[in-house]
Amino acid sequence: MNVCVIGVGYVGLVTGAVFADLGNEVFCVDNDKRKIDMLNRGEMPIYEPGLKEMVKRNVDDGRLIFTTNLSKGVKTAKVIFIAVGTPPKPNGESDLSAVEAVAKEIALNLDDYKIVVNKSTVPVGTGNLVRNIIEKHRRSDVEFDVVSNPEFLKEGSAIADCLNPDRIVIGVPNHHVAMALLELYAPLERTMLITDVESAEVIKYASNAFLATKISFINFIANLCERAGADVSLVAKGMGTDSRIGKEFLQAGLGYGGSCFPKDTLSLLHTAKKFGEDASILESVIAINQDRVPRFVRRIIARLKPLNRKVIAVLGLAFKPNTDDLRDAKSLEIIKALQKKNAVIKVYDPVAMDNARSILKGVTFCKNAYEAARGADALIVVTDWNEFKLLNLEKLHQEMRGNFIFDGRNIYSKERVESAGFEYHCIGKQ
Ligand code: UDX
Repeated sequence: MNVCVIGVGYVGLVTGAVFADLGNEVFCVDNDKRKIDMLNRGEMPIYEPGLKEMVKRNVDDGRLIFTTNLSKGVKTAKVIFIAVGTPPKPNGESDLSAVEAVAKEIALNLDDYKIVVNKSTVPVGTGNLVRNIIEKHRRSDVEFDVVSNPEFLKEGSAIADCLNPDRIVIGVPNHHVAMALLELYAPLERTMLITDVESAEVIKYASNAFLATKISFINFIANLCERAGADVSLVAKGMGTDSRIGKEFLQAGLGYGGSCFPKDTLSLLHTAKKFGEDASILESVIAINQDRVPRFVRRIIARLKPLNRKVIAVLGLAFKPNTDDLRDAKSLEIIKALQKKNAVIKVYDPVAMDNARSILKGVTFCKNAYEAARGADALIVVTDWNEFKLLNLEKLHQEMRGNFIFDGRNIYSKERVESAGFEYHCIGKQ
């Protein structure tokens, strides 16, 4: 099938590569010439395991084309995916200007029946909005349909998630339209759910907000455990083995970051308010998340005060492991708060260092965790990269001046860390 994917951000690039790998002819379009040029040189604008190889394979076979020429992409395709960014406005509302601009461009190039698919995470009602824009700007009465097909991939495992999704949600205005999407996704042999457009749009936000709720809930329980002398890891295990609850997303820590949960919970809150619905459950989820870093920093200050000129090694900058993404990363918030108290910051991350250099000012970038630890008074774990779990703690201790570890992701066992000579502080347990 001929497919056009507009927007080569996380979702668009991975989706385009996967569709090409399944044997489709894919045009990936973006108006950012720098990104398109990079991709045409075989360089990836994001770090994602397996992506570079998949892109190369399909470009070499001529099934995957990167271009800034939207007109060509639209005219060649039967199905057009909109996968552009929907960043938050200051009031939490999703900024749909990129989606609107693309809808208009599609309309101006519509020469034949097309299926326009919203893959971007967009608030309920956006399918309708896109339909109205295309109707208004199309040059003739050429037919089209608008479909919602939200993407559930996670960064760091995007290709695997895209190839093996738990479900494929296809929100359509009529069942006839669903056939093309069913055909496109059939090779994956996964569960497909056909709904109306609005339900598909809500499914995406409801899923992300529910997962965010699980995280904030376990973080609230972690706070309680700290006061009550309980151990949140054991509590999460006990809860998670109830199959109705499930063990995923019950990892207490510094809270959720990244490009989706913070933005999507705020957007859903905005939507609920727009419809006049009470959204206090979401407000609590967001408030708990927003207090994770201040609470952690308060603990660091209480133990190290005064922070003035104390050297702190920060392990992990990416918002989670296996990505170089720093959007809404807790590291940035923590470093800012510690710098405000005049702490001296050394940092190390396995893959996010290049991205961090343009964002973080006044920190020392180190080659590895041991170099970051050298001469430090305290070490804090911000991202749960596997390589941090495997560090030689005795060596780490020798490198340091002080002996504090503040583990924001509970990656170590207290006994192990203490036997290496550290004073250990973690989340939700003594
Ligand atoms: C998320 C959704 O999982 C995905 O379905 C959607 O399409 C996009 O948003 P992503 O943002 O890539 O994906 O990362 P995810 O693995 O879900 O983690 C989000 C954040 O939650 C991270 O900051 C992570 O550290 C945090 N998290 C996750 C926890 O704090 N505890 C957990 O138990 C799980």
